[in-house]
Amino acid sequence: MDDHLEFLKSRRSIRRFKRDPPPLEMILKAIDVARYAPSARNSQPWRFIVVNDPLLKDRLAEIHPWARPLKEAPVSVVVACHVDESPTSYMLDCANAIIYLLLALHALGLGAVWIQALRNVEELRTLLNIPNNAIPVAVIAIGYPDEKPEPRPRRPMSEVVFLNKYGHRLI
Ligand SMILES: Cc1cc2nc3c(=O)[nH]c(=O)nc-3n(C[C@H](O)[C@H](O)[C@H](O)COP(=O)(O)O)c2cc1C
Repeated sequence: MDDHLEFLKSRRSIRRFKRDPPPLEMILKAIDVARYAPSARNSQPWRFIVVNDPLLKDRLAEIHPWARPLKEAPVSVVVACHVDESPTSYMLDCANAIIYLLLALHALGLGAVWIQALRNVEELRTLLNIPNNAIPVAVIAIGYPDEKPEPRPRRPMSEVVFLNKYGHRLI
């Protein structure tokens, strides 16, 4: 059981990738897992756009300065979220699917990083023909990892865990 917990803790954002593209079947395997994320009323408002067209990928890499990992990544997945299918919780539902996707990719030995898309919604809609009732919430850069980053620092448990009331420390 501890191995499972260590596996969850060992995921890192990967921003450097080897050139060889992972087989499409691996990406589909990870997306298949992402579909099992929880969503409000089981609405599953997510759609996954797999992007491996180099020109399109380069355009995605230019949406903002922190999107550059998309240029090196041989494949990316845009997660678009249907507001009409889960009006209150679409953002949460899709975030859940993205985390499942990141962990599934990690389990397959692939590296990935979540690239912010929320400041570039219209640009991405136009680029990828996403309809107006869906919001592209993230672009996930994916490939075989070419770096082994140290874990980023985490706030200590004592700062983030309370007992019964906010501010009442448990630890
Ligand atoms: C909503 C969200 C947006 C993010 N946007 C970017 C981004 O645009 N570019 C990037 O390189 N990393 C991005 N990240 C990755 C975070 O920087 C990373 O998850 C955080 O530093 C913790 O590192 P770790 O994932 O290795 O644990 C984003 C993560 C989240 C959850």
